[in-house]
Amino acid sequence: MNLKVISKATVVNQYLPKKLTAKTTVTAFAPSNIALCKYWGKRDVELNLPLNSSLSISLGHLGSHTRISHSDSGGDVILLNTKEQALDSSFSRKILDFIALFRRTQPLPLIIDTRNNIPTAAGLASSASGFAALMIALNDFFDLQLDKPTLSAFARMGSGSASRSVFSGFVRWDMGEQSDGMDSVASQLDSHWPGFCIGLIKVSSVQKPVDSRSGMARTIKTSNLYASWPAQASADLLSIEAAIKNKNFSDLGQSAEKNALSMHATMMSAWPPLVYWLPESLAVMHKIWQLRSDGIAVYFTMDAGPNLKLLFESSAKKILEIEFPDMEIIQPFGNE
Ligand code: DP6
Repeated sequence: MNLKVISKATVVNQYLPKKLTAKTTVTAFAPSNIALCKYWGKRDVELNLPLNSSLSISLGHLGSHTRISHSDSGGDVILLNTKEQALDSSFSRKILDFIALFRRTQPLPLIIDTRNNIPTAAGLASSASGFAALMIALNDFFDLQLDKPTLSAFARMGSGSASRSVFSGFVRWDMGEQSDGMDSVASQLDSHWPGFCIGLIKVSSVQKPVDSRSGMARTIKTSNLYASWPAQASADLLSIEAAIKNKNFSDLGQSAEKNALSMHATMMSAWPPLVYWLPESLAVMHKIWQLRSDGIAVYFTMDAGPNLKLLFESSAKKILEIEFPDMEIIQPFGNE
């Protein structure tokens, strides 16, 4: 593997015309996604190149809508859920840094209007859908005519998990091995699973103290268990992909839950320890294990936060709606 570090700007620049032409206004949508096999750890922090491949399910119509239009005021305007954001806020800076990769030195003031329809109660991160929608919108606005793998690679430079949000359904992000990362892209699996459900359970909406980016860096640096993660993740990815192909729900659930807990084991063994769980998270896990021993096929996955995402099929929906009355249910492929 070639580990030479290349800048984002160097990679992106090769795909751009010297001078951009801009449309007046465009809109784009990208779904949020939940990883069933997690991305945890980078081999290149500049390009967000991962140390393992991952696999996710996109959340249908839940995600980010982004509108880009020309700004007449002479300066950029950044809106999030209709509220104007200070240009020096961390949200605005991330967006402006990303846009700078495309605008380079051209004076093209823009209005970037991002609206997330992810239920705020769900405790889901919006950077994946946000960067994917922004990339799709930029491609249209500047008429870049980039293909889907390139959009995925560029969205990844904003946030790793955004590479997967360029697609719907089940999506695999191959880690790749090139130093410019252009083979580290996602693609959609040719699988449709009507009745597949994801339940969002919020146990807390408090901002996580350590975000995924810093959490990964700390884990790699300080956890002895991390050495076992890439091999575990690649084995889990194979099982999950096979389970999706064969529509074997219990195999999928087991591998996804085990994968999430293995990732959390690496986090907990970091120093200072990264324990994203709250007592309520553990209570929900115990409830799920009890429901499983009572014969209900329900599994969970968790990211770098205290909230749980339940995995089940529509046959278990009624009973789970009673057990978890506040759960938001998403069926990315609709009903059976
Ligand atoms: C635990 O994609 O948010 O949700 O690449 O630094 O922006 P950056 O990280 P991010 O990490 C997501 C980590 C995860 C697992 C996953 O979604 O695969």
